[in-house]
Amino acid sequence: MEAVMNNISVEKAKTSKIHEVDFENLSFGSIYTDHMLVCDYVDGEWKTPKIVPYQPITLDPSAKIFHYGQSIFEGMKAYKDDNEKIWLFRPLENHKRLNKSAKRLAIPQLPEAYFMEGLTALLQLEKDWVPTTPGSSLYIRPFIFASGTGFHASPANAYKFIIACAPSGTYFSGSVKVLIEETYSRAANGGVGYAKAGGNYAGQFYPTQLAAEKGYQQVIWTDDNTHEFIEEAGAMNVFVRIGDTLLTAPTNDRILDGITRKSILDIAKDEGIKTEVRKVSVHEIVEAAKNGSLKEMFGAGTAAVVSPIGAFGYKGEDYELPELKDSFASRLKKRITDIQYNRAEDKFGWRYPV
Ligand code: COI
Repeated sequence: MEAVMNNISVEKAKTSKIHEVDFENLSFGSIYTDHMLVCDYVDGEWKTPKIVPYQPITLDPSAKIFHYGQSIFEGMKAYKDDNEKIWLFRPLENHKRLNKSAKRLAIPQLPEAYFMEGLTALLQLEKDWVPTTPGSSLYIRPFIFASGTGFHASPANAYKFIIACAPSGTYFSGSVKVLIEETYSRAANGGVGYAKAGGNYAGQFYPTQLAAEKGYQQVIWTDDNTHEFIEEAGAMNVFVRIGDTLLTAPTNDRILDGITRKSILDIAKDEGIKTEVRKVSVHEIVEAAKNGSLKEMFGAGTAAVVSPIGAFGYKGEDYELPELKDSFASRLKKRITDIQYNRAEDKFGWRYPV
């Protein structure tokens, strides 16, 4: 780590909200724990992080986040095992990706120690908030935004790094119905698609609303140039099984380098599943659906975990996916969640104790 900081101050909440929470019926990301980590970047440096009671933030109306959307985030989860021990999954990958996003959005790099020590100190304090009902976890949202002021369209001179946590249930309930996009684009070459920038998500809301009006929950984005090749689904990367081969698009300027995505690829190879990371055309998927070789589609992401796709729409037609008994999605989901919840050997060294 670049720096060692062991002087994080903690201001404890006067009362805890934990007893008001129905841990048996958690939705995704809608209630927050008692504390948050806050770290300010001012005068050209990140100051020592503090843990404070979870609370609203006061910002100047000219803060650049409001005008120019200079903001990035990560999505992570903390898992509690049967012995009440708390685990993270590949957290250093999240730190690396946060800094990759920061570079693209002209946000100062955040030292690894600030991220990791801040995160672990917060989780140690909030350990009782990590739920144990099946499929639940503590969703962690680290984010950085421009708090510095001014209408001049240039990078801010002040930023806030915050980590907030939400005990959460599943992101999707049941299988997902998706629409393969023909008109709108999520990202373009040379743009910010590979960064976890807030604006990448805001830009999806309108086309996703249009899709929702037709009964679809997610849009599968296609390349901005031809709309012929599938990219990702915005809240998750996408996998397609044709015959016995598992396919996913290669990461590029436009696609988020998902940590679940690359873990699923490693697990699939370890399971002896034939994988191909290559451009996957919509034509190929539609043909496979018609001739019966399209066996599965699923999304993979931190929030989504592994979410089966039950049907997809394209050019006004809906295509149903078969329900398989021993699907790749269920096998891969079991393997990855067994590692995350410390129910199985972690031969890849991905689990990280808190
Ligand atoms: C995550 O999977 O953690 C994400 O950040 C995606 C978000 C749209 C929920």
